Amino acid sequence: MPDPAIRVAGLTRSFGDLEVLRGVDLEVSRGSIHALLGSNGAGKTTLVRILATLLRADAGTATVDGHDVARDPEGVRESLSLTGQFAAVDDVLTGRENLVLVARLRHLSGPGTLADRMLDRFSLTDAADRRAGTYSGGMRRRLDLAMSLVGEPPVVVLDEPTTGLDPRSRIEVWDAVRELSRGGTTVLLTTQYLEEAEQLADRISILHEGRVITEGTLAELKALMPPATVEYVEKQPTLEDVFLAVVGGGTHDTPTGDAR
Ligand SMILES: Nc1ncnc2c1ncn2[C@@H]1O[C@H](COP(=O)(O)OP(=O)(O)OP(=O)(O)O)[C@@H](O)[C@H]1O
Ligand SMILES: [Mg+2]
Repeated sequence: MPDPAIRVAGLTRSFGDLEVLRGVDLEVSRGSIHALLGSNGAGKTTLVRILATLLRADAGTATVDGHDVARDPEGVRESLSLTGQFAAVDDVLTGRENLVLVARLRHLSGPGTLADRMLDRFSLTDAADRRAGTYSGGMRRRLDLAMSLVGEPPVVVLDEPTTGLDPRSRIEVWDAVRELSRGGTTVLLTTQYLEEAEQLADRISILHEGRVITEGTLAELKALMPPATVEYVEKQPTLEDVFLAVVGGGTHDTPTGDAR
């Protein structure tokens, strides 16, 4: 078995008295799409910021592409790109200028050519010379994704890539993520949307009360639930049923409640 692209073991992090991560274990295998599912405040962003070396853990270890976040942050930064929960796009610049800027900041040669390639890959060529401020939500997200992929990092972390997008834009972003994965990139994405995890993820981890309480493929997670039989028709549990069962949720439609 090759080393996983991301390996997290016993990771803890508190903010004052608030213990956000209480011993997180997570493995993401190379080339896979892995969804980290959790309610608001579960600690998803905290975890991905530690992986991206933007925040230190209190204890435990995390490696990205074999680089330890504490001992080799430079190596981690070369291997991993984080697309944050809030877009890093500069609205005053055009889509192309945003991409060229990122390529320059990463000291890559041929920034113009790289930018054009990304615009093409994310179907933004027609909008390349328009200010990003005029883009739709889906276009902004695609540009944001494209920016984080300049330089082709082997590991990409997407923090809630489709929050706030309309259904069409969401599908566009999903397609872009699948495309990435087909190219061999490892993708870790956080989401509150169970459907997103169902659509995209090879494996799913559920973060709750500071720990990953369940991990597996969608089929494995569904197998945790006894199938309910209604007459002769077997009702398949949805990921939502599984989520609510394992986190002990109430009657909410979506797991948007405060995790504490
Ligand atoms: N810098 C900080 N200082 C103090 N508390 C923080 C800090 N960062 C995060 N927290 C707290 O840690 C908890 C987890 O936050 P985090 O942003 O990781 O959650 P999340 O799972 O990403 O939530 P969401 O789905 O809303 O994005 C929250 O209670 C938050 O208020
Ligand atoms: Mg978050």
